[in-house]
Amino acid sequence: MKKMLVLLLTLSVALVYAQESKAEYTGSKKCKICHNKAEDGAQYSIWEASPHAKSLETLKTDAAKAIAKKKGLKTAPEQSPECLSCHVTGWGSESGYKLNVDPLDSKAVRTNEDLSAVGCESCHGAGSLYKSKKTMIAITDGSIKGETVGLTTITAKTCTVCHNPESPTYKPFDYAVRVKEVAHPAPGK
Ligand code: HEC
Ligand code: HEC
Ligand code: HEC
Ligand code: HEC
Repeated sequence: MKKMLVLLLTLSVALVYAQESKAEYTGSKKCKICHNKAEDGAQYSIWEASPHAKSLETLKTDAAKAIAKKKGLKTAPEQSPECLSCHVTGWGSESGYKLNVDPLDSKAVRTNEDLSAVGCESCHGAGSLYKSKKTMIAITDGSIKGETVGLTTITAKTCTVCHNPESPTYKPFDYAVRVKEVAHPAPGK
């Protein structure tokens, strides 16, 4: 009986893990559908006007090329994992931004394009399991814990994955100050 219980527990833990690891990156436009109304805080438009939304473009500038040259990179910055790791969404993850996408797979091309910046999911977590309206409301009313469906509880660590001295242009990162610069609250909250 005890063995059975242990087995069942192990199995359910394994299942939880399997489910969590299934969360996939979907791209910021998937969030835009519901998070761009002015009366709810227009999160997408605020993000779109922020430096995060242009982070891949930044890798195409002369400043970026100069950094890459100094580092001895053989490929252009926007083609180099050494730079892309912090300048796109989900680098290194199966469902994240990739350098090689089948050009004939138009859906994959579109999604990849939508991941070509530090998008919503770079901070909030891969969205495939939490982005349905039902789940989002259940998270907000407390009946589901966001983390069980991939929605991150944001802390300074969420940012210092990228805002750290590995960045060739690192500026000291004070979370309390910098988080205000990217704020996009819902009105009244
Ligand atoms: C189908 C509509 C829909 C989509 C798509 C959607 N959301 Fe939501 N989201 C909601 C609703 C509704 C709420 C609850 C709003 C409220 O009660 O103020 C919410 C709440 C949230 C919250 C607050 C959660 C909390 O703990 O209070 C975050 C963060 C969030 N969404 C991020 C995202 C991100 C990132 C994406 C894209 C990956 C996304 N949403 C896609 C509808 C959606
Ligand atoms: C996936 C990597 C990544 C994550 C996670 C991330 N950032 Fe950034 N952040 C960047 C990059 C890259 C830039 C530079 C964008 C550009 O100018 O092209 C940037 C720029 C900024 C800027 C603009 C000012 C500056 O330093 O150039 C602020 C403010 C900022 N981030 C705050 C935050 C905060 C706060 C968090 C966490 C809540 C966060 N970031 C999470 C990569 C990231
Ligand atoms: C560890 C994460 C990380 C890596 C790796 C990274 N960057 Fe960045 N990059 C950032 C962040 C964060 C910013 C925002 C400014 C800051 O605080 O460093 C940024 C900003 C920039 C900027 C804008 C300059 C500025 O002062 O805002 C350029 C240009 C840039 N990066 C080029 C590159 C190049 C080229 C590479 C590859 C050789 C690279 N980055 C690799 C995180 C990274
Ligand atoms: C640089 C990191 C970062 C990015 C990128 C980002 N967010 Fe957020 N977001 C935060 C932080 C920090 C908060 C406030 C703390 C929290 O609720 O976890 C927040 C809060 C929210 C909330 C809750 C607002 C409220 O007041 O209830 C929603 C909804 C949301 N974000 C949606 C989005 C959407 C949609 C995108 C992309 C268009 C996005 N976020 C991009 C960091 C980010």
